[in-house]
Amino acid sequence: MFVADCLNVNEKGHLTISGCDTVALAKEYGTPVYVMSEDEIRKTCRMYRDSITEYYHGRGLVCYASKAFCCKEMCRIMKEEGMGLDVVSGGELYTAMQVQFPPEKIQFHGNNKTEAEIKMALNYNVGHFVVDNISELETIDRLAGEAGKIANVSLRIKPGIDAHTHQFIMTGQIDSKFGFALETGEALEAVKAASSYAHIRLRGLHNHIGSQIFDVDPFVAAAEVMMDFIAQIKQETGIVIEDLNLGGGFGIKYLESDQPVPYGDYMKAVSAAIFQKCDALGLDVPYIYMEPGRSIVGEAGITLYTVGSIKHIPNIRTYVSVDGGMCDNPRYILYQADYTVLVANKADQERDTKITVAGKCCESGDLIQEHTLVQDVEVGDILAVLSTGAYNYSMASHYNRTPKAPVVMVKDGKARVIIRGETFEDLLRCDV
Ligand code: LLP
Repeated sequence: MFVADCLNVNEKGHLTISGCDTVALAKEYGTPVYVMSEDEIRKTCRMYRDSITEYYHGRGLVCYASKAFCCKEMCRIMKEEGMGLDVVSGGELYTAMQVQFPPEKIQFHGNNKTEAEIKMALNYNVGHFVVDNISELETIDRLAGEAGKIANVSLRIKPGIDAHTHQFIMTGQIDSKFGFALETGEALEAVKAASSYAHIRLRGLHNHIGSQIFDVDPFVAAAEVMMDFIAQIKQETGIVIEDLNLGGGFGIKYLESDQPVPYGDYMKAVSAAIFQKCDALGLDVPYIYMEPGRSIVGEAGITLYTVGSIKHIPNIRTYVSVDGGMCDNPRYILYQADYTVLVANKADQERDTKITVAGKCCESGDLIQEHTLVQDVEVGDILAVLSTGAYNYSMASHYNRTPKAPVVMVKDGKARVIIRGETFEDLLRCDV
């Protein structure tokens, strides 16, 4: 009913998520609280998997980009769903290994992996390193040699695609800190180098063109560029690239007006482009990887707050202050990100009151949304911000010594805490 399928309104006029009354959840777990729908997360995983089965003969693996939201329970769910995992730090890798995530299904990303992280990944036998630069190749070769192992490697390529998205999260273009450039010949040099190391096995190429993308065309264009490059590599060096990683970046609904492309349409178009290129260029069909993050968890999550004060500034705006803010959701202050906001205890009423939702941090820019329409709002109401499942908890901070809010997972009308809320004592854990 609102943005995501897991949301609805019950007979009391309260917003529900996966059958749980959000007003009751706010009462039981306190606010702010993140609530995530397990049903929605699992449904999305299946959609991805089914689209590969339907359009790509099942020859691929969807690796959840855990940067979007990472915790032990999330890794357990991904494991149960047969997903792979994209990790980008020792911390994400450690979390996955604590729930015995199959290491061969993990890809280790990052533009500056430390030696300690590389050793850790080699020690856990992760499936792949997605290598960003030449120094990293040398380091992986050396450390793999010391460990007596051969490291599987993919190279991150900048396909030079402008994905028409927020400039902070555009990574496909040449002026990016990520990956090897095609235009300059750097990427081909990297392929040759990777094939010459004794402790590296070059398996694939990777590209990721940005985030929150609604168009299919840039994904198709990127896949075509990569297939052309695979053909060029074969022709000029004889090296056969077996895997192609198509990255993540699929857009989700933050506002009712957002129109994400159904995954099936995306997969259909990209598969057709790859098959067509294989035919035209005489290549074997590569095994594919995808790395969606936001689209697996984004719409599945909401954040609940309690309204603490309301300030009307005549002819200017009305600030509605909540008991959270940039500490639990830094996406407005960082990207002026859009969100849909509702009064959870009046979800059946008209949204005709324009407000600015402010947080409680000591910073004027600490806002969650400006000039947004909600129901008639009063102090004590529960405010729900929708589509906060991705890059909210994972980007939360302790600014103003704010403890992190708990994460509650809901499924079939039942709720359980999957990350407990921090206490003041937790804040002092590392203080000496
Ligand atoms: N693969 C790579 C190599 C990435 O860099 C990313 C995201 C993903 C996959 C997953 O992309 P997704 O499917 O989630 O769009 N903090 C920003 C988003 C940063 C995305 C970083 N990389 C935000 O809150 O919008």
